[in-house]
Order: sequence, then C-alpha cells, then structure tokens
Amino acid sequence: MTVPAYRSQEWLFDVAAGRYDVDLAVSGMESHSVEPLLAEMTTKAGYDIDRGAHKVREAVAELYRTNPENVLITHGAQEALYLLYAALLEPGDEVVARTPGWQQTLDLPKRFGATTKTVEYDLGDLDVHGGVRTAAAVSEKTRMVVLNSPHNPTGLTFTDDQLAPFRDTLVVNDEEYLTDFDRSVVHHVPGSVSVSSLSKVYGFPGLRLGWLVGPSEIVEKCVNYRRYTTISNSPLLEDLGLAVLRRRETYLAEYRQRLADGWRVFADWAGGFPQLRPIEPQGTPYVCCQVDRPSWDLCNELLDRERLLLMPGDVFGAPGYVRISYARPVDLLTEGLDRLGRVVGLELAELP
Ligand SMILES: Cc1ncc(COP(=O)(O)O)c(C=O)c1O
Repeated sequence: MTVPAYRSQEWLFDVAAGRYDVDLAVSGMESHSVEPLLAEMTTKAGYDIDRGAHKVREAVAELYRTNPENVLITHGAQEALYLLYAALLEPGDEVVARTPGWQQTLDLPKRFGATTKTVEYDLGDLDVHGGVRTAAAVSEKTRMVVLNSPHNPTGLTFTDDQLAPFRDTLVVNDEEYLTDFDRSVVHHVPGSVSVSSLSKVYGFPGLRLGWLVGPSEIVEKCVNYRRYTTISNSPLLEDLGLAVLRRRETYLAEYRQRLADGWRVFADWAGGFPQLRPIEPQGTPYVCCQVDRPSWDLCNELLDRERLLLMPGDVFGAPGYVRISYARPVDLLTEGLDRLGRVVGLELAELP
C-alpha cells in the first residue's frame, strides 16, 4: 500500500518553489544560526544510544518534571509520531483524530492496517465542545486518540476542561507549539504521551531534534522500532539540541516578542479587510483566516501576482481557509501584508 502525496510539503517544495520572495507560510520562528552554539561542541561522532543520550533525555524530562525513562529523543516530532503509529498500531485498530489537521495523522495509520476516525473542528464556536465530541468518538477499537494542541492550522488550544473527558484511552498530543510543559497533556490525562521538538518555537527545525514523553512501556516499544529504522540520532545534532535547551529561556523570550509584535501589526492590518476572517490564535505563530474563495486558487494567485507565499488550508483539509504566519520580522510581515492586501483588495473592488 502506498501513501498519498504529502500535501503541505508538495505545496512548499514542488508547487510554490521558486515562485515567492516573501514567505508568510513558515510554521514557526525564523531559523536561528548554530554558530553561537558551536564553541561548546566536543562531540565524538560515534553511534548514539538508541533512545537518545542520557543528558538530552534528562534535559527534556526536566521540562515535564518527569524521568529520563519516560523520554525518547527522535528526529523531530514527525519521527516521534511515526514511531508511535508503527510500534503500537495493529490491523483493525482505530485512531481518533481531528480534521482539519496534520496529514500524517490522517493518512499514515492506514499503512499499518488501522483506520482513522475524524472529528471535525467546529470553527463556528471555536471548538469549545471539541473535547467532549472527540472523547465521544472513542470506541472499543480505538487504540489511540491523537490531538494537536495548540493546533495546526486553526491555532486553537484545548483548555484543561477540554482534556477532562479523556480517560482509559491512550491520548497522544502533538505539542509542537506548547511553550509551557506544565500545561502538557501528560499532567492532565493519565498514561498520555506528549510529542514536541525544537522546530517551531525555538527556530531549529534543521537540528531534527524532537521527543516523545510518556509511559516507559510505550517508550520501549518505540525504541525497538527505531532500531529497525535510523538506529540512533546523530550525537552532533543532539549536542547542539542540548545547547539550545540550555538557552531555552532566551529563545522563548525572542519567540514571545515576535508573536506580540507580529500580532499587533496583523490585527491592525486585518481590520481593513473584511473578506479575510481571522480566528484569533491561542498560542500559535500563525493565524487561520476564512476566505470567500478556494484557498488553493488564492494562494496560487498570490504567488503569480505578488510572489507571496501563504499556506492554503487545502493541505490540512480546510479549503476555505488560509494560514498566515504573523510571527515574522515586522518589515517582512508588513511587506507581505501589503502584497496580500493588493490581491484581496482587488477582489473587493471587482465585486458588483
Ligand atoms: C502539527 C505538526 N506536527 C508535526 C510536525 C513535524 O515537525 P518536526 O518533525 O520538525 O518537529 C509539524 C511541522 O510542521 C507540525 O506542524
């Protein structure tokens, strides 16, 4: 069985490649240089231990107030999620997930003989009943519920109350955008798993440094699967990742400032464009906006006319929405919004 084309990557690397010079589609903080971290590197380039070096697992465990036995260091959140599906799913199992959402969750479980049952976000009421509705979809066949909070692409975040209905099922939360791990699912749902990485908030996607945190039996199953795939992480990238974790507060402060400055600029600009209806983000560096035309068409027109890159909601299963990254340096954001304004402004002018 083959897997379908990965729509977000296809959009970025195939369809849009070479057609833009302003990027408001990036899904996290702009990438940082590793130069300031290199002075600390004394790494020996041997094989790393399969679950990640103890010192790196300790640093991640500290974020969650747990133990290294509960941590597996992975190649990004993407590998952590892959290992969970590969190691835990059996034919006939069911995964409960949300749509719109991250394509891996929606399409990959099939590859292991499982099915994905989806529960739609109710964007009309900001999904306030999303927890209850998702928990109600759980059946005796459900092997895991996969959440993504804060969510890509809607920007919505589950409250503690929305997590309350989950009991007696394995809950995995993709917490790529969480900045405070005291709010992690692992502190709210017994036996649950958190997945995250240095990619989005910290601006180091190229280190491919991610993790999963959860019950040690689940960690062990994933470690065994890892032995069949990548064997171990690169110790060099792990050491760089550790240096990032040690400077976490500095990177977090920069990220928070980007969000605050960018949101001010975006909210001010958006007031003049009623044809874009933003959902106020609850802790993500992008904002999801409802539009009146297929977002794929709009995004292609933006590339052709203005060399501006946005993320069409189609890639997440939300064709009536576009995702706009507002946590960008103010000059770049302003330039991007000017370009967007020229195209959506034209639509307004063309209305009868
Ligand atoms: C919701 C979500 N999960 C997982 C990933 C994978 O990211 P990484 O493997 O770099 O941590 C992404 C990247 O865009 C994402 O948006």
